[in-house]
Amino acid sequence: MTRRTRILGVGSFVPDRIVTNDDMTQWMDTSDEWIRSRSGIEERHWVEPDNTTTSDLGLEAANKAMAASGITAADLDMILFATLSPDHEFPGTACFLQEKLGCPGIPAIEVRQQCSGFVYGMAQADMFIRGGMAETVLLVGAEIHSKGMDISDAGRDVSVLFGDGAGAVVLQATDVDDPDTQPHIYSSHLHADGTYAKELWVEGPSMTYAPNRYSGDWLERGAHWPKMNGKTVFKHAVTRMPEVATEALDANGFTVDDVDLWIFHQANMRINYFAAKQLGIDDDEKVFNTIQRFGNTTAATIPIGLDEALKAGKLEPGMLVCIAAFGAGFTWASSLVRW
Ligand code: ACO
Repeated sequence: MTRRTRILGVGSFVPDRIVTNDDMTQWMDTSDEWIRSRSGIEERHWVEPDNTTTSDLGLEAANKAMAASGITAADLDMILFATLSPDHEFPGTACFLQEKLGCPGIPAIEVRQQCSGFVYGMAQADMFIRGGMAETVLLVGAEIHSKGMDISDAGRDVSVLFGDGAGAVVLQATDVDDPDTQPHIYSSHLHADGTYAKELWVEGPSMTYAPNRYSGDWLERGAHWPKMNGKTVFKHAVTRMPEVATEALDANGFTVDDVDLWIFHQANMRINYFAAKQLGIDDDEKVFNTIQRFGNTTAATIPIGLDEALKAGKLEPGMLVCIAAFGAGFTWASSLVRW
């Protein structure tokens, strides 16, 4: 028997408020046709313009994941929280979530790998569990983008793409005799290339400014809004996601045809279409996309995808699931799971 990690339960949460592509036209010069044809997005969920925080969304998802797993916060040994939209600059959002969950004392760790954050978190949880430091880990991916984007014409290339939301899984140690039938994570594969760090980033405020991080003209330049070189991101995403998915398959002796369900990061429907084509996936039904309804929820897209696939009856015990993500950094990652 080998000590491995399994996903015990999944949960997700999006705020009630739906913002359609047509709704976006009240703030910027755009159209449903432009957004839909370039990205596949039809609508996204945004929080009300109130004091809701990323950890609030994370809490909702975490509670659902723990209920689905039949555990409570008292059973957790560790919290991992993946986000690029933290409640505050410090301490980490994992600590704010921990306070809301009421489980002081256990480690609470922030994962700052943007769209790949959830898969990085899966790898970390798997290693903590396999190494014996934890039995049961809560991993949350959550974002509030709506309060951090320029929704004027100047920011329209970015702001039409992103939605708010959260997803969570509970991961637990398991003994595996037969990896082909018993639920577990086979392996995760992580990469980054900081050469491209400024192709998708928020520049300010910044410790590079002197005499302090609020100096200079960054506010006038709008350097506090996310900036993206869309074409470069697109080009790298369609290469790196298939590459890292193939790495996971090769590492475990599987082929593309062995995979029952593909859960790709949801940045752009066209990226996922090209990735699927590159991999030679012949059955569209095996690629589960949610971007149409939620937009890009960054660290939350993977667990939202898993939860929505479960609700849609597309994810069943025994399935081989390949997860792949690409995002700012650039970072990219994959995970192969027996469900
Ligand atoms: N509505 C209307 N017009 C727009 C909008 C908008 N929302 N945004 C930009 N435009 C305009 C531009 O101003 C430009 O106009 P111009 O030609 O007059 O200068 C034109 O549309 C650009 O159009 P295209 O060249 O057709 O744009 P492209 O095909 O590159 O699509 C897009 C843009 C959708 C952003 C694409 O590059 C993309 O999806 N890139 C990847 C984005 C991504 O994946 N981001 C996140 C991943 S990582 C993460 O999640 C953190």
